Amino acid sequence: MLRIGTVGFLWVWRILVLLQLSSGILGWGREGHYATCRIAEEYLTKEAKAAVKELLPNSAGGDLASVCSWADEIRHSYHWHWTGPLHYVDTPDFKCNYDYCRDCHDLAGNKDRCVTGAIYNYTKQLMEFDRGSYSAATYNLTEALMFLSHFVGDVHQPLHVGFTGDEGGNTIIVRWYRRKTNLHHVWDNMIIDSALKTFYQSDLTNMIEAIQRNITDGWSNDASSWGNCASNQTACPDPYAAESIKLACKFAYRSATPGSTLEDDYFLSRLPVVEQRLAQGGVRLAATLNRIFASGDRVAAA
Ligand code: ADE
Ligand code: ZN
Ligand code: ZN
Repeated sequence: MLRIGTVGFLWVWRILVLLQLSSGILGWGREGHYATCRIAEEYLTKEAKAAVKELLPNSAGGDLASVCSWADEIRHSYHWHWTGPLHYVDTPDFKCNYDYCRDCHDLAGNKDRCVTGAIYNYTKQLMEFDRGSYSAATYNLTEALMFLSHFVGDVHQPLHVGFTGDEGGNTIIVRWYRRKTNLHHVWDNMIIDSALKTFYQSDLTNMIEAIQRNITDGWSNDASSWGNCASNQTACPDPYAAESIKLACKFAYRSATPGSTLEDDYFLSRLPVVEQRLAQGGVRLAATLNRIFASGDRVAAA
């Protein structure tokens, strides 16, 4: 039998913990992105559905939700390294408001390189498809669709609009029940994972259906206007980011100081926030795609 001894075991343990922590830099986890895009699919118009189907890679099997984590899967590869800052936008420490001009830049200060800037950019690219001026040589619109669908999810994760100093909670080490992790990872994955186990028989479809019922019944008064954008814009990620930092201050950072243990109280009071953000992400992604692919003057594939 293989014996690695105490020192070896400690190293293996450290590597496992490191792997777990570093995965916290991703967006919502796979489940969160899948849920957001599944919800969006329900609200697509016929035109948008057709355009999405045309743009999806063959590997998606016609299902948008299956490619909504693609942007996270590629971001650590050399070729896509530049996309890292497009997953989030951070505010100055302890500022619970968001300002595009002040906050949307990467670490080197390049403007527009943040999650809201990326949503504007990929929306603009996809509008070309709608105008029929699409040429494969200009942009890869399959990638644009996959990026847009992912980033609309990300901007709804409150800690993707967090404070610069703690990297949106990534450097705040906490315990989630008995497990050591970081606050960002709690919001990307742990709240959803615990909800699946506790309330949804570990079946993501059950959770998505419960959220969908809440959209049509529970939150219906508000939900009917979630998809709207002010002043005829096609995409409007700025108010979503402003909501996120407000929620980060009120729910994510509150009572989650370094070294704290988060359990039932935190879990049960924050889960409704997570579920509503997944719902808003889905409804707003659909509304954005519906506007992008709405105009009738497309000379496309007919
Ligand atoms: N890296 C730095 N800030 C981040 C944030 N808010 N979300 C994800 N990754 C980050
Ligand atoms: Zn994340
Ligand atoms: Zn992401």
